[in-house]
Amino acid sequence: MTDVSGLSIGILGGTGDQGKGLARRFALAGHRVLIGSRSEQRAQDAAGDIGSGATGGANAAVAAEADIVIVAVPYEGHKALLESLRAELTGKIVVDCVNPLGFDKQGAYALPVEEGSAAQQAAAVLTESRVVAAFHHVSAVLLMDPAVEKVDLDVLVLGDDREATDTVQALAEVIPGVRGVYGGRLRNSHQIEALTANIISVNRRYKAHAGLRITDI
Ligand SMILES: NC(=O)c1ccc[n+]([C@@H]2O[C@H](COP(=O)([O-])OP(=O)(O)OC[C@H]3O[C@@H](n4cnc5c(N)ncnc54)[C@H](OP(=O)(O)O)[C@@H]3O)[C@@H](O)[C@H]2O)c1
Repeated sequence: MTDVSGLSIGILGGTGDQGKGLARRFALAGHRVLIGSRSEQRAQDAAGDIGSGATGGANAAVAAEADIVIVAVPYEGHKALLESLRAELTGKIVVDCVNPLGFDKQGAYALPVEEGSAAQQAAAVLTESRVVAAFHHVSAVLLMDPAVEKVDLDVLVLGDDREATDTVQALAEVIPGVRGVYGGRLRNSHQIEALTANIISVNRRYKAHAGLRITDI
């Protein structure tokens, strides 16, 4: 397993539910966590909520400083944000957890993405970064809940660079209960992002925070 212990983690859109949840778990595991936002003040407030040494700053500063950068913004703002951070993200592992979803009376459904998936969109924009797709199905509610000691699920990790996917698998595993599982190349990210719509349906029907487990590995 790759040693990720010394790596700092930056989170773009880290003021939202998902970003804060991941930030909390990585900070508890001893990582230096940098919360990014369009507003420095919101980032500092979120970092204060998380504690454990987390700090907050503008998305660009966080992108430039962190060793690994997680993108946790809504799909609507995804492409424009990454286009504005190309230089800061050069040479870095960029972890995309964005699920392009729409919602109507029937619930959640997957949106078409011109590039194939949000992760492929990130890779098309960030040609000098190593884009990895992961953390799509992790419930922000469970990540934030202090009563949840172990988050019981596998995190599927997709990408075209073996060292980068190994690193992100190891990063997933610093969250107690989580196993990082390689899930294929970036071109197969669409199904993983879209599957979130099914998981949301499961959650609504069974009033749960469902996760996935892959058997026989
Ligand atoms: N919530 C979950 O359980 C969950 C689970 C898995 C994956 N995800 C994915 O993670 C991403 C974030 O989810 P979330 O629930 O945390 O979303 P969110 O709370 O709606 O947004 C996260 C943050 O993104 C920033 N943001 C909003 N609109 C933006 C824009 N147009 N451009 C740049 N930044 C913008 C905001 O931060 P500032 O205003 O401070 O900049 C906001 O606090 C989504 O793509 C979602 O599909 C969520």
